[in-house]
Amino acid sequence: MPDPTRSGSAHPRWDAEERHQNGRSAVIRAVAPGRVNLIGDHTDYLGGLVLPMAIHLGTTVEGQPGGDTVTLTSTDQAQPAVVALDVEDPAAVEPGWARYVAGVVAEVRPATGFTGTVTTTLPIGGGLSSSAALEVAVALALGFEGTPLELAETCQRAEQRASGVPSGIMDQLASAAGVEGHALLIDCRSLEVRPVSVPDDVEIVVVDSGEARTLVGSAYAERRAQAEMAEAVIGPLRDATTLDLKKLQDPVTAARARHVMTENARVWAFAEALAEGWPAEAGALMAASHASLRDDYEVSTPGLDALVERLSATPGVHGARLTGAGFGGCVVALTEPGALDEGWKVRPAAGARVLTS
Ligand code: GLA
Repeated sequence: MPDPTRSGSAHPRWDAEERHQNGRSAVIRAVAPGRVNLIGDHTDYLGGLVLPMAIHLGTTVEGQPGGDTVTLTSTDQAQPAVVALDVEDPAAVEPGWARYVAGVVAEVRPATGFTGTVTTTLPIGGGLSSSAALEVAVALALGFEGTPLELAETCQRAEQRASGVPSGIMDQLASAAGVEGHALLIDCRSLEVRPVSVPDDVEIVVVDSGEARTLVGSAYAERRAQAEMAEAVIGPLRDATTLDLKKLQDPVTAARARHVMTENARVWAFAEALAEGWPAEAGALMAASHASLRDDYEVSTPGLDALVERLSATPGVHGARLTGAGFGGCVVALTEPGALDEGWKVRPAAGARVLTS
């Protein structure tokens, strides 16, 4: 199976000539999907395994190169983003959404500015990686050239600079390297991406808990630090065994480590269950993942737990779990077709690309 991150042609590129056809700047349209993570949360920043899927909802940046700022208006935002090409501190830029644009400008450092619009079909801040989709679409619109992996790494740095959160690479890599009809088994140590076909006889439904994600930044950084504390004692959690776990004296550190270790194992098993067409097994792994995120990693909330419980008890639902960072946001469910009549039925989509006209 080809690794979509290594291919240099995952999205069409354009050269300087195309960007300035007949002395006039071509209109550039860059589209980037959001993502839902089927299983494997709080493992990416520890070199673990994740299984996200790029979805058919996404963000489009359309406009023309030129000028000495990157100026974007958004149908969903009152204030435009106006970012100087030499922006130094993306986290200080106003309004808040412009920080993600500024983070990309600071990483890509385009030679000329850009003026255009942003539109999205993603719920903003709802746990489907609207910020990653925005970053990836902006980077492509600004002329970023490189492999999908390089695009994702650039946008991960942009996200970290914009938000101050030490986030992993999953969201940006899913958006950059998505494969139509497939989820992506990503090894966050080797950064190899293996597409896993999503069977036709299941639906993937995302339901918003309605709970705004709070404390995501500080609690996320705290969890990451706790897991790294465990790694300082027993080495990479990716390679650790249950015997190693016993060396961790502090029960909280041990619980954080246990989540990461068991979650990595569940991702492998889930990928196999999906590929073999065993939805009941896949659903059971999702339930176990949610319990581990709730009890060992402590990133769930009463609202997410109640939603997972209600969805899981619905006939035709194979399994459900919180998806993404947690602390509010969305739940993802694997179901028989038509089992749930709520939320977003998301379809596996191709990764980000550029269209010029
Ligand atoms: C957020 C981060 C990702 C990942 C998830 C948790 O979405 O951006 O890198 O760590 O949380 O799995």
